[in-house]
Amino acid sequence: MTGWLLRYDGWDPSAEALRESLCALGNGRFATRAAAPENRAGNGSYPGTYAAGVFDRLPDVVDGHRLENESIVNLPDWQSLTFRIDDGAWLDLSALAVTGYVQELDLRRGVLTRRFVVEDQQGRRTGVAQRRLVSMADPCLAALDLTVEAENWSGTLTVRSALDGRVTNDGVARYRGLDGRHLVDLRPVVDGDVLGLDARTVQSGVVVSLAARHRVLVDGRPATAGTETATEPGCAAVDLVLAVDPGRPVTVEKIAALCTSRDRGIGEPGEAARDEIARAGSFADVLARHELAWDHLWTRCDVRITGPVRATLVLRLHVFHLLQSVSPHSVDLDVGIPARGLHGEAYRGHVFWDEVFVLPFLNLRLPEVARAMLLYRWRRLPQARASARAVGRRGAMFPWQSGSTGREETQTMHLNPRSQRWLPDNSHLQRHIGLAVAYNNTWRYYEATGDVDFLSEYGAELILSVAAFWGDLASYDPVGDRFDICGVMGPDEYHDALPGADSPGLDDNAYTNVMAAWTLTRALECLDVLLPGRRHELLDLLDIRRADLEHWQHVSRKLRLCWADGVLLQFRGYDQLEEFDWAGYRERYGDISRLDRILEAEGRSPNDYKLSKQADVLMLFQLLTSDELYAVLDRLGYPHDRHTIPRSVAYYLERTSHGSTLSKVVHAWVLARGDRRRAWNWFLEALESDVADVQGGTTGEGIHLGAMAGTLDLLQRGFTGLETREEVLGFDPFLPDALGSVRFRLRYRRHSEVEVTIDHDTLTVGGSSTGSTVLPVRVRDKHFRLDPRGSLAIPLRRRRGD
Ligand code: BGC
Repeated sequence: MTGWLLRYDGWDPSAEALRESLCALGNGRFATRAAAPENRAGNGSYPGTYAAGVFDRLPDVVDGHRLENESIVNLPDWQSLTFRIDDGAWLDLSALAVTGYVQELDLRRGVLTRRFVVEDQQGRRTGVAQRRLVSMADPCLAALDLTVEAENWSGTLTVRSALDGRVTNDGVARYRGLDGRHLVDLRPVVDGDVLGLDARTVQSGVVVSLAARHRVLVDGRPATAGTETATEPGCAAVDLVLAVDPGRPVTVEKIAALCTSRDRGIGEPGEAARDEIARAGSFADVLARHELAWDHLWTRCDVRITGPVRATLVLRLHVFHLLQSVSPHSVDLDVGIPARGLHGEAYRGHVFWDEVFVLPFLNLRLPEVARAMLLYRWRRLPQARASARAVGRRGAMFPWQSGSTGREETQTMHLNPRSQRWLPDNSHLQRHIGLAVAYNNTWRYYEATGDVDFLSEYGAELILSVAAFWGDLASYDPVGDRFDICGVMGPDEYHDALPGADSPGLDDNAYTNVMAAWTLTRALECLDVLLPGRRHELLDLLDIRRADLEHWQHVSRKLRLCWADGVLLQFRGYDQLEEFDWAGYRERYGDISRLDRILEAEGRSPNDYKLSKQADVLMLFQLLTSDELYAVLDRLGYPHDRHTIPRSVAYYLERTSHGSTLSKVVHAWVLARGDRRRAWNWFLEALESDVADVQGGTTGEGIHLGAMAGTLDLLQRGFTGLETREEVLGFDPFLPDALGSVRFRLRYRRHSEVEVTIDHDTLTVGGSSTGSTVLPVRVRDKHFRLDPRGSLAIPLRRRRGD
């Protein structure tokens, strides 16, 4: 492992699913799993290609219940490429002696290589090398080349290349009982060595077209191969046939294009795909443009640390996959941030609240990409309003999971693989998603970019519409003179009701109530940022009256929080639950992260116990600074002291099973100030989530984008105390001992290239801005002014524990 290369030695079919996700290649528009090009699905291998926003909805009947699920669609496999010698068998590593197998993902260049030597039963040794990319420069293009070198034989080499539409959604074991056949009307065509394949998704009717062309080189010089069509139903294929001698390597280049009827600036997708490959140039041309595009992205987005090499590499892997899932190519699409990247079929490609972990990184580097993600939400406001109306509420209610339309896509039943029982899924009650959309995304975006135009045109409408929902949902209790928010779920998905309750839902989830109070306050503040005309226009359009604004003021001061012994309770009644036998269950089961499944299989329920799947109350301390949180508590009239946060942190740290990869990120975050050693350890654990597949198989179904981005945000904001409020760039660094320094480049408001380096002694900030704007910088309680193109080196006083 170096800081840029993810390398695997040795062929290991049991590790393929994981490697396929971790080495997947993409450009924000589409991504392809790193399945071996010679394989179809099976024996641990799962070719998958997914285009952002291409979903399809299919019905099923499970246990007598009719279900509908919308899923990101596995598209035809453009990579398919294999070979054989004379009339021998097609390449199959499991049937050959394989030596020197190396797979390497070069993060800097965005290129995946694979090298090995195979020997067949006749003793013929063949060296094989492949390179692959999904172009970051040309968003429809992907390329693959294969070099075959005979070591000790002469004969005929047949290379078979295909565009294979015989794929289904079959990548996640627990969904296998459901229909996964999303592609119909497959039309393969072959013209010489040019392949084409059109298909259509069943319900959404998206036309997907692929085209590919080939170029053959012998000993590095262009050569001509014989071509024979090998097309089968659903699969366009060609055989390229050549004579081979030892020492004269044969290379086949394959340039492929993927276009869909959702693309802009095209006529018909099939024609567009053919045009793309016709003008792409050679593999080297495609590669050169691709490398340049990555180079520019890394200049903006690299996060460099002085610390363990593995941490450096994994952080880059996280940047890499973030940018492959959402990139400047997403700006033109109507897509959100998929929780599992474009890397697999887990969670069906849906968009959750994970953007709260992803957007802080984008806001400060690629704000135009962040803006596009916010617009995905804005376009779905009509649906969110309809959803609020459907439950008798005003304003906008965003869905916990969304896909193409913005309607609620959360499954209504889920399978517990441990008990094999299908169970009701109430996670759609996580109404807090709207708070993430309104506040943490839209408002933080505004703070980081100063984009008043966006706030005025779109952001304010989002915030006000969400605030209207919470203002209406809060119910007044005259006895306690408090407002309650009832019937919801917090981020902890292991609690969906009080023990023995008849219906699902919890009351006064602390996370929800604090964030609702916060959002109502921000909504009122945001009206002051708008010009008077726009303010009146929006209030009129959204039918928000003076009395509503007064009501919001009131609710934002009177929402109820529940406490026991100075600890902020996760929800009303939490203190009445039983303590859980952590030690006993650990001893019995080992890994107890999925306590929901373990307990259900035992005939029990997590609802009965003081346990959490993931950070819930603790999320508050991640999303809000302590000043911000205390301001909410003051506004709500709840007393607090300097132990309020640490007390709750200590309480919940003991009671969390980390059933979500997001949890460790948040634990590292909340310890960053108080216990740097433990924070660093949690950070290292969070880094391992995907690269080491700590959940034992889930990464193979898709990366965990929120956790990946969360580790980056930990470095960017958690350990540095970076804040972007009131037009000042603020820092309050608290680096763990093992982290020598951290260095990154930011774009903050009009300051487009702010270079930040922080070590234990000095904070250096410098850079250039357009025009002559001075950047106000605050380091702890001292204020500075950074001149355009100037730099500041600010000594950091060592604090206790430094
Ligand atoms: C977590 C959610 C998260 C989702 C998608 C779930 O396991 O509990 O908080 O949004 O995964 O990443």
